[in-house]
Amino acid sequence: MLFTRRHILKTAAAATILPVAARAGYPPLKAHLSRQRVAPEGFPDTTVWSYGDTVPGTIIKVDQGARVQRKLVNDLPQPTSVHWHGIRIDNAMDGVPGLTQDAVAPGSSFDYDFVAPDAGTYWYHAHNQSMEQVARGLYGPLIVAEATAPDVDQDLVLMLDDWRLNPETAQITDDFDNGHDLSHAGRLGNILTVNGSFDPAFAVRRNERLRLRLVNASNARIFDLDLDGLAGWIVALDGMPLETPLRLSGSFPLAPAQRADLILDVITEDETASLVSVERDGSYGLARFEVGGTAAGARRQGVSALPPNPLPEIGNIQEAQTHQMRLQGGAMRWLESARLGETELSGRELAQLGKFWALNGYAERPEDPFLDAAVGSLHRIEFVNESAFAHAMHLHGHHFRLILDDGSLGPWRDTVLVGRGQARQIALIADNPGNWLLHCHMLGHAVSGMMSWFRVS
Ligand code: C2O
Ligand code: CU
Repeated sequence: MLFTRRHILKTAAAATILPVAARAGYPPLKAHLSRQRVAPEGFPDTTVWSYGDTVPGTIIKVDQGARVQRKLVNDLPQPTSVHWHGIRIDNAMDGVPGLTQDAVAPGSSFDYDFVAPDAGTYWYHAHNQSMEQVARGLYGPLIVAEATAPDVDQDLVLMLDDWRLNPETAQITDDFDNGHDLSHAGRLGNILTVNGSFDPAFAVRRNERLRLRLVNASNARIFDLDLDGLAGWIVALDGMPLETPLRLSGSFPLAPAQRADLILDVITEDETASLVSVERDGSYGLARFEVGGTAAGARRQGVSALPPNPLPEIGNIQEAQTHQMRLQGGAMRWLESARLGETELSGRELAQLGKFWALNGYAERPEDPFLDAAVGSLHRIEFVNESAFAHAMHLHGHHFRLILDDGSLGPWRDTVLVGRGQARQIALIADNPGNWLLHCHMLGHAVSGMMSWFRVS
């Protein structure tokens, strides 16, 4: 049962006692229940939790350097908060209950007000009971426009999701504490959507140039994306421009929370081009691009890099201290023991508490930070994945650079995919003061142990 009648009445009553939406101020970002068709044609509508009236929520678009101001109004049956994923934000606005703010109770509101320093593709999502709230639809796009935008014919935001719906009723299954999901790859669904619908169509013209802003909003699915009838480049990852655009050839991964900006030309001779998800058992269509007419006689030539963002200069990484973070536990590598606070518990005891994973021996966010960094200091973090599953490790408030196998610096990111048995290093300039989360963005892993934090002061 998602919502009882009593429950809805309670929420409505609370809303009249606290006239939050009526108070003057920022434009509201109302989190509430709504309905939309998520499943294919012929299925009933799905009850979702949304920002505004749709999933994805209201698009928030600002110019680089401008302020984002929104009043979160909570008309949900649970406390909530908003995290502005990938924004190098003022810590007080980061939206993490228990670390940067209190969760916003049903019937209450919270004013978010921050500067968006970097142009690019970002997103916002719930950060309280995220495993459930994001799965129910609490996410939306946050687009920060470059002063000079690239020359494209269409700029499209495509938010990818993976829903687990009851195949008869098309309602979200509410098994959010499913121990099998938590201890394995996380909550994987049974229907893939783009912008909240199944296999949507976009109108394009032959030889048209598109910017696609892909956002993986799913709880746990690592997409392996491929294009059919579209050719071009990756120009940005996790919002940050690549120094040199990367020509696409074959499929490319997009882990939970990651973004990729593509510049593509419609080169198909057919009526339809498509974006597909390559899965173990075949390719699944995510979105169609229906070709109507011709934009130009020939494909455009070349592409330029997007203008760089004001990121810090990374000095000599050889001189930086390396901090190891071991990713432990999960099915097949069950934890022998790990700590909750200062108490060491056995793997069995932890499992009974719904904890299956640990970061450096802690099965929940520890009291002390994983890293206590001076403002402006440079660090190497090595993620060592001792588990049998992949993890998408995300740092709040900062972007970092990957350190490639040859020791050189790779792209800027805010979320790095660490494959099973893999070790990956990043270079971080801790230049944003505050207390920042560091966690796995497979949301079921985060809630069942893969949560840590670092302090910059
Ligand atoms: Cu996308 Cu801790 O968040
Ligand atoms: Cu994980």
